[in-house]
Amino acid sequence: MDDLIFLGIESSCDDTAAAVVTGDRRILSSVVSSQTDLHADFGGVVPEIAARAHAERLDLAVEQALSGAGLSVHDLSGIAVTAGPGLIGGVMAGVMCAKGIAAGAGLPLVGVNHLAGHALTPRLTDGIDFPYLMLLVSGGHCQFLRVDGAEDFTRLGGTIDDAPGEAFDKLAKLLALPQPGGPSVESEAADGDPDRFALPRPLLDRPGCDLSFSGLKTAALRLRDQLIAEQGGLRQGDRRDLCAGFQAAVAEILAEKSRRALSASAAPLLAVAGGVAANRAIRTALERVARNVGAGFLAPPQALCTDNGAMIAWAGIERFQLGHRDGMDLVARPRWPLDSRAAPMLGGGKRGAKA
Ligand code: KG4
Ligand code: ZN
Repeated sequence: MDDLIFLGIESSCDDTAAAVVTGDRRILSSVVSSQTDLHADFGGVVPEIAARAHAERLDLAVEQALSGAGLSVHDLSGIAVTAGPGLIGGVMAGVMCAKGIAAGAGLPLVGVNHLAGHALTPRLTDGIDFPYLMLLVSGGHCQFLRVDGAEDFTRLGGTIDDAPGEAFDKLAKLLALPQPGGPSVESEAADGDPDRFALPRPLLDRPGCDLSFSGLKTAALRLRDQLIAEQGGLRQGDRRDLCAGFQAAVAEILAEKSRRALSASAAPLLAVAGGVAANRAIRTALERVARNVGAGFLAPPQALCTDNGAMIAWAGIERFQLGHRDGMDLVARPRWPLDSRAAPMLGGGKRGAKA
């Protein structure tokens, strides 16, 4: 099966992506066309704009991925496409594009769960074995998954409200810092005092691995308004201290819940994926937790932690190897929980369904 070559297509949020990946874990090409500029004025991803942009850009992304790999469709073994969860218009655009190519070239089609794409990435990048614990932390996702196989995921917990990236973005908005908020907050926090403001640690006092971040954002809003009322505005030091306190709170919440998830799952390794995994304070806190319980720690390169086509191609290869094939009746799904045994989560999130 090492000689498999798959095209992967991803269009579930605001990145139009295509990549060519082999069964022996080589990424021959990976093209990501971001729509950040199209949504910048709206404070979030606008589903209709995203769907239209995907429909316009998918062909080009696929063409670039194939030419980057030096291949034609006839060299491929199959097409993998994100079939959910996500913003439905974008997912439909990707699924229709994949069906067209598969039907035209007579290739097998494999629908992939976007979250499985993230969750299986450490196997593509580092060839790790099952089982392991995956923490997905991005602008739209936040959950712990024990990964026992390419189609065997157990959800140990997740956010009950905002995703952490969403919380970083909202804090940045409150403090008039540039979007995306994570990098802006991280750079402000570098010179701030994390102990000046008492920010809450929601849900830490309750057992289990569920997380909550919206109270943190509300507490930051109150502190900001209080400072403005007292001083007539925010000083740079206030902004830095609020960012430092907020980042320290998110890091502590994620670290403590990871400790519990590692112990509940008995997994030998903690892997992280998603944009928030780029945050150095958070990464360091997670690495320390893993080390303290004798587990390994793995964070794939940033370009493969955020949305991309290579993870979809790889997850498609893994599913294909298990015998999975989809037909022309493959449907795009706005919600698609990875672990069908787990209770459904509430909340949509500004970047789409958290599933
Ligand atoms: O995985 P991603 O690129 O896209 C999806 O959410 O699907 O994640 C983007 C999120 C944004 O909310 C952004 O603010 C956050 O990841 N992020 C960070 C950092 N870099 C990106 N959050 C905290 N610290 C960072 N350095
Ligand atoms: Zn994602």
